Amino acid sequence: MSTTGGRRNIGEPIVIFDTTLRDGEQSPGSSLNASEKLEVAHQLVRLGVDVIEAGFPASSPGDFDAVHAIAKEVKGAVICGLARCIESDIRTCWDAIKEAERPRIHTFVSTSDIHLEHQMRKSRDEVLELTKEMVELAASLCPGDLEFSAMDATRSDVDFLAKVVETAIQAGATTINIPDTVGYTLPTEFATLIDQLYEKVPSLEKVVLSVHCHNDLGVATANSLAAVEHGATQVEVAVNGLGERAGNAALEEVAMALVTRRDIEQRPVNIVTTEIARTSRMVSSLTGHMVQANKAIVGKNAFAHESGIHQDGVLKERSTYEIMHAKDIGLTESDIVLGKHSGRHALRSHLAEVGIHLDGEDLDEAFRRFKVIADKKKEVTAADLEALVGEEIREREDVYSLTRFYVAAGSDIISSSQVEVDTQKEPHAGKAFSGGSVESIFLAIDDAVGVSGKLMDYQVRSITSGKDSLGEVRVVVEVDGKRYAGQAVSIDVLEASAKAYVRALNNVAMAREAGGARRDRVYL
Ligand code: KIV
Ligand code: ZN
Repeated sequence: MSTTGGRRNIGEPIVIFDTTLRDGEQSPGSSLNASEKLEVAHQLVRLGVDVIEAGFPASSPGDFDAVHAIAKEVKGAVICGLARCIESDIRTCWDAIKEAERPRIHTFVSTSDIHLEHQMRKSRDEVLELTKEMVELAASLCPGDLEFSAMDATRSDVDFLAKVVETAIQAGATTINIPDTVGYTLPTEFATLIDQLYEKVPSLEKVVLSVHCHNDLGVATANSLAAVEHGATQVEVAVNGLGERAGNAALEEVAMALVTRRDIEQRPVNIVTTEIARTSRMVSSLTGHMVQANKAIVGKNAFAHESGIHQDGVLKERSTYEIMHAKDIGLTESDIVLGKHSGRHALRSHLAEVGIHLDGEDLDEAFRRFKVIADKKKEVTAADLEALVGEEIREREDVYSLTRFYVAAGSDIISSSQVEVDTQKEPHAGKAFSGGSVESIFLAIDDAVGVSGKLMDYQVRSITSGKDSLGEVRVVVEVDGKRYAGQAVSIDVLEASAKAYVRALNNVAMAREAGGARRDRVYL
């Protein structure tokens, strides 16, 4: 360890722990199925993350299966599962991850008096005892890589927090995580907490100190960086800043801050920054969470210069107004890749270039979809291809699929729609009349499927620029008091709307099949 002017661990690499598939998946409106999670996990390896938190296996059978599949298939990163300090959670977590190349159990207990009194109804002594017993159990199953989190650490009494941390280290924890669970702390206060912990718990020097910051006050990245400057060696992040409520520290922000300001931070990371844009697009497309235009690093406007003075400066000398290059995060100036005369082979090699490897039936299906688009659209870009393949992956496990739809709409008529939805066994027809074309499509789908969803959110955006751009639609639907998201792309936004709605109903079917709602949250 090196310490200079209050800073610790200068020069030590930072472990990037990605929790997109666990905390990120807890964002309201997310719902990834097992193949989508696998796809994201493979991309996270290409991005160079060190640890993938793949899920919370005890929360639902669906989560267990997804974590298990990732543990078996994804190589090149530590695969971690979350577990409460409860014996059955820890054993279930171990069963899900034990086949991983490098497995990690991540167990947690709350340490703040607010949580102890109102949520856990346990005394401090009981929490200390539980920490010792459960960390010992987890360490006996997964020796050598065990993470312990003190939930709500930033609102905990620091002396009690230090005792819990010391107990966890003595019981076998190799990483200690200090979460700002409710996004309450501020950078200088958090840095002081990290300093205090290093002073009060000398054995912290022998393990990895991690931080996990939520963005309720908009300072998750700043808090993470403050902790890094004071010695944290692992940072927990999520792609596009997804996560509970206002989300987690954004992977792309923490990584680019460490890389761009390496002069100050002096903490290397393994992130392949040129994979950032692609990962962001994939996560946005699969989770259905669109990225706001002015989002740092990955927003549509993050590298756009609107004012004349800025444009003039950038044209003369890029560094006048740019601190990073778009190409550093993998954005290319022109990403036109294919046209309608391109063949199957060209599609296959372009997909491989963007890290998507398809063969056999999957390639045939991607090619069929590509041809449909290329017939209607002059140039098919990398972003279009990613959106199309993302859609194919999403549809693989679907129970319902939209086979055809017709809409009649206009200024002086009542809109009417007819749809046909396949339910694996047989086609079901549905029809409806109503005020708007989108509403009539959704009602016709309800009629065909026999499920009635209440529309809670509806968003449309274009994948690229141009009138012939693919349109992406995201819906959130409430069924039986629970919310389900669906998302789809098409050159026709009415078709994308219909498919997105059908996808949401597929998520209803999947949730029912997977044994109902997750225990930790409303199933989304
Ligand atoms: O925010 C939090 O405290 C968490 C823990 C489970 C690490 O997500
Ligand atoms: Zn969290």
